[in-house]
Amino acid sequence: MHKCGLNFRTVGFCIKLLWILDAYFIWLQGWLTGLKAGDDAHQLPTIAVVASYDTFGAAPALSVGSDSNGSGVVALLEVARLFSLLYSNPKTRGQYNLLFGLTSGGPYNYNGTRKWLRSFDQRLRESIDYAICIDSIGSWENELWIHVSKPPENAYIKQIMEDFSSVAEELGFNVNLKHKKINISNPRVAWEHEQFSRLRVTAATLSELSAAPELLEKTGGLIDSRHFVDEKAIIRGVKLVAESLARHIYGHQGKNIQIFADNSNLAVNPYYIRSWLDVLSQTPRVAPFFSKDDPFVMALKKELEDHTDEVNLQREALDGMFTFYDSTSAKLNIYQVASVTFDLLLLLVLGSYLIVLFSFLVITTRGLDDLISLFRRPPSRKVKTA
Ligand SMILES: *[C@@H]1O[C@H](CO)[C@@H](O)[C@H](O)[C@H]1NC(C)=O
Ligand SMILES: *[C@@H]1O[C@H](CO)[C@@H](O)[C@H](O)[C@H]1NC(C)=O
Ligand SMILES: *[C@@H]1O[C@H](CO)[C@@H](O)[C@H](O)[C@H]1NC(C)=O
Repeated sequence: MHKCGLNFRTVGFCIKLLWILDAYFIWLQGWLTGLKAGDDAHQLPTIAVVASYDTFGAAPALSVGSDSNGSGVVALLEVARLFSLLYSNPKTRGQYNLLFGLTSGGPYNYNGTRKWLRSFDQRLRESIDYAICIDSIGSWENELWIHVSKPPENAYIKQIMEDFSSVAEELGFNVNLKHKKINISNPRVAWEHEQFSRLRVTAATLSELSAAPELLEKTGGLIDSRHFVDEKAIIRGVKLVAESLARHIYGHQGKNIQIFADNSNLAVNPYYIRSWLDVLSQTPRVAPFFSKDDPFVMALKKELEDHTDEVNLQREALDGMFTFYDSTSAKLNIYQVASVTFDLLLLLVLGSYLIVLFSFLVITTRGLDDLISLFRRPPSRKVKTA
């Protein structure tokens, strides 16, 4: 996909190509700690809520299937806010830890998510009951999809599905399950939860999309087909996630109890959602080029700190990097940096070119015979024996 012509943009890109060596994934996490019954030492189970903050925003011009306004991030922040209200009161604090993770590197095979997961110690990883990754939920009407890698018969998957579909039914829409096995020997993933699945952590992705968007490198097309992010869709998505988690945490399965009912003080706040949507839609979020104290990253961190504890920000260098974005324009540019193989190939091509050119010149100037004689072994002088 080399589009290099010589102009100022190209020069800029080449400078950025050098700069890419300095690219990082930044992730943020925050905890809401559950209430331990008694003083027992055993660890509480954890539910993780995850969203990739650059999947959508980094690609305002991503061609297929993303809500450019970061609906997943907005939803995660609102879910964190709602549960922080519940968890601030010991009477309504659940016996589950809640872990909120904002990851980056979505367009890079969710490699940032993988790095985040690898930072967990084994005890933490094993304590995760399940993780719910919120993908784009900003422009749907009456159905959402839950993508999983474990078979639908799995007890956890069954439970997640039961919780989500019963809540969805009460709210007047459908959630459908889509199962796709992961291929352990292939590092490519289509959804964020697959990075969890690769480490044997139960996880699901909630999305309005029934199939994963094409990989960024493959599409290359840069026109966003979606322009409309519906606030109401996000509100319904938040309700679905929050109610379903609450049902799991408080064991209200099968009961029609709405904790986050409209008009209660635990209702989803449309102003909060709108204001974050505005921030997200005005911020170019090109993760590899974020510095640790980027204002947007700082804003996310502060927001997590307002609602959760032990907020932690980590920055990790990117590896296997071969795509990058032009962060200065709204258009997304993808370039492939030539690999070593490419260099070798180039050398080979240049080499053969020179040989052909040399032969051509010799033939035209001195004739074919001269050329042949060049490559022939010099006639050995036969020593006559007497
Ligand atoms: C993600 O990481 C893997 C393994 O380190 C690497 O092979 C791959 O190229 C990375 N993908 C992207 C898109 O950066
Ligand atoms: C899994 O991935 C490997 C490596 O990419 C590939 O060779 C193999 O065919 C894949 N298996 C399935 C079942 O798709
Ligand atoms: C993002 O949201 C704003 C309103 O919050 C809207 O005006 C804008 O068109 C949206 N942009 C995209 C690309 O969806």
